[in-house]
Amino acid sequence: MEKMMFAVVLFVALLMGHVHMGVSSEAEAPPVVDVPSDVDVVVLDASNFTQTIEENAFVLVEFYAPWCGHCKRLAPEYAKAATELKSHDHPKIILAKVDANDEQNKELASLHGVQGFPTLKVFRDGGESVRHYNGPRDAQGIVAYLKQMAGPPSHLLSSLEEAEIIVKENPLTVVGVFNDLENTECQEFLSVADELRSEYNFTHTFDTSYVPKTGVDLSAPAVRLYKNFDEGFNDASDLSPDGLKSFLDAKGVPLVVEMNKDPANHAALVKFFNGVGTKVFLFLDLKGEGADEYRTAYHNLAKAPHSKVLKFLIADAAENENALKFFGIKEDKVPAIVVQGESNGEQYLALDIKVSELDHWLQDCLDGKVEAHVKSDEIPETNDEPVKVVVRKSLNDMVLESGKNVLLEFYAPWCGHCKKLAPTLEELAIDFKDDDKVVIAKFDGTTNDVPRKIFEVKGFPTLYLHTANGENIPYKGDRSKADLAEFVNKHRSDRSDASPELSAVASSEETTRDEL
Ligand SMILES: *[C@@H]1O[C@H](CO)[C@@H](O)[C@H](O)[C@H]1NC(C)=O
Ligand SMILES: *[C@@H]1O[C@H](CO)[C@@H](O)[C@H](O)[C@H]1NC(C)=O
Repeated sequence: MEKMMFAVVLFVALLMGHVHMGVSSEAEAPPVVDVPSDVDVVVLDASNFTQTIEENAFVLVEFYAPWCGHCKRLAPEYAKAATELKSHDHPKIILAKVDANDEQNKELASLHGVQGFPTLKVFRDGGESVRHYNGPRDAQGIVAYLKQMAGPPSHLLSSLEEAEIIVKENPLTVVGVFNDLENTECQEFLSVADELRSEYNFTHTFDTSYVPKTGVDLSAPAVRLYKNFDEGFNDASDLSPDGLKSFLDAKGVPLVVEMNKDPANHAALVKFFNGVGTKVFLFLDLKGEGADEYRTAYHNLAKAPHSKVLKFLIADAAENENALKFFGIKEDKVPAIVVQGESNGEQYLALDIKVSELDHWLQDCLDGKVEAHVKSDEIPETNDEPVKVVVRKSLNDMVLESGKNVLLEFYAPWCGHCKKLAPTLEELAIDFKDDDKVVIAKFDGTTNDVPRKIFEVKGFPTLYLHTANGENIPYKGDRSKADLAEFVNKHRSDRSDASPELSAVASSEETTRDEL
């Protein structure tokens, strides 16, 4: 979960440069101005949920909570989509919602594994098939996605010409060739198609002559992936559902993914960021002189066998300012290569790297010969505002070893809740200004690495009190000045009067600090 969250944060930070730290963070929903009528959204509760699911072929259910901002933002789009899909037939598509916060529906929600809001699930064939909905959240997107989901999972090819057109028009087309529909392989293929239909265009045939030519013949049963990049097509060797899925997962992403805003490229990027493996990023001026040389060398690197699973991404530096900032790379330091470890997100980087050094540096990095990079802003020259600025380089002096009680806010410059909190923190800092044992401080978690072994920061703002005797206490209360002050006063301590147990905590903290 932690890793997944990290990947998502990274992806969002890199590509969009803002918002949404995770499912549970209640961030940034713009005010809903025009709420269209939701008469076409079917209201369900524990009393009639099961019956409705059983009686219908296709129901999308939104489990929501009235207080959830993302749900409020989805509501008008959901309503519009429901109205638009009302006329859809064969199957009828129903959009429903369940207030999962309502006491009587809580059991139902937990039965369906609802953990965050909104959770959307598609119930098909009377509830025999249940799938998580992870499609778009705007009306047009929902409509298109559901129409596609409601159709057959795989298209039965009617001619070679048709197959060629589909392959030509779509970046990822899967063609299954089988002897007949009742074949186990065919049935398993259809179930995989059902699951992955939003990522690939699945087609199948019982006639080998309908399979677009590649120079390699296929005989049934077989599955071939056609793609508009790299080697152009791949044949699956294992037709079991798991075998097929890992085949598609491995071959369906370009060897080197390019980071840009082209919608056609979005799926590959999502796969890159969510996929397993160590990630390698190359930033350079893709339009500049010598870019092709880098491209070729990098591509060859990606093709080479490695001791670990590696995923490669290339990005234009100017178009991906946010990503550069995220890694703490100045624009005049490109070409730059970054390796991001899989397990804990530690980063290794080389700036101004020459094309001839790429291979060697990556090998050194994989061999553990490169120091991890710790990102930090410079220590500010003046720091005389009530709320003190802490950067990674000053974290030890100003917080961890300060011998003071520091209320530390981890924030992001783009985060609206952080902006809202700022004046409160300032007032709090003014209230404590004559107390030399208490410091109110802030830490920009986007330009400074958060030591993840000490602070768990999954969203912004996150507040911790680091007490004078070394305890780190996360703040979970509301964001009023009174509550914050009470929290500080309740947990603050002084080294001089630390009890033996607390000193023990403090010294065990030291060990963690050494690992910073
Ligand atoms: C389910 O029950 C609720 C409350 O009793 C009602 O408001 C809703 O319209 C019902 N839905 C259906 C589809 O019968
Ligand atoms: C391929 O899939 C996309 C959606 O994933 C769909 O819009 C398109 O119509 C499909 N194309 C064909 C030829 O089936």
